[in-house]
Amino acid sequence: MIENTSHVTRSVGGALRIGEMAPNFMARSTTGEISFSDYRGGWVVLVSHPGDFTPVCTSEFITLAKRLGEFEARDCAVIALSVDSLFSHLAWVRSIYEKTGIKITFPIIEDPTLTIANAYGMVGGNSQDAATVRATFFIDPSGLIRASTYYPATVGRSVDEMLRILSALQKTDAENILIPEGWSEGADVLIPPQQSINDIFEHDPGEWFYQYKQSNKG
Ligand code: BEZ
Repeated sequence: MIENTSHVTRSVGGALRIGEMAPNFMARSTTGEISFSDYRGGWVVLVSHPGDFTPVCTSEFITLAKRLGEFEARDCAVIALSVDSLFSHLAWVRSIYEKTGIKITFPIIEDPTLTIANAYGMVGGNSQDAATVRATFFIDPSGLIRASTYYPATVGRSVDEMLRILSALQKTDAENILIPEGWSEGADVLIPPQQSINDIFEHDPGEWFYQYKQSNKG
């Protein structure tokens, strides 16, 4: 039974933008039936991939599996999706396990009708086929899209960068700070620019420019 065709709450459209609600869906996955709304209250990194049994995707999934604990430590679930069938996903997971001993324990959703892929804008605009591109959505506990990235089939994503974006979003939610270029966990962060006339008179006007401070939380 494929539930995802009738339960996506957004019509077919372009890529989702930052600040939009992540469409809800129900779908079959390698860990059982998923109702996306059940993930509310925690962060989700939703990743689409072009196809099972392909080298770049396999490299991404092996690293995601190895580093799943780092997402979980940030109260974040990882969910993957492609147009391949559930049985293809299961065979791929088994093959990865047989070859490497690594278990892909996060859910991989089947989306053969592209219903979810279209709702999230995961299909390339110029696609020769119906495969999803390497889209990554960072979804916050209230269900909002907070960041997204799109890579072509030929270029694998960096799991380090996924964790960095996730940490940066969580940090800017928790503290009144900004994240500079190349930031990594524990490094200096930026103080937001002055936004009121009082700040302007009380502080050196040059202060706003690249003012770093050591963050309270690592
Ligand atoms: C890959 O994951 O290796 C791949 C997938 C689709 C097209 C090209 C490469």
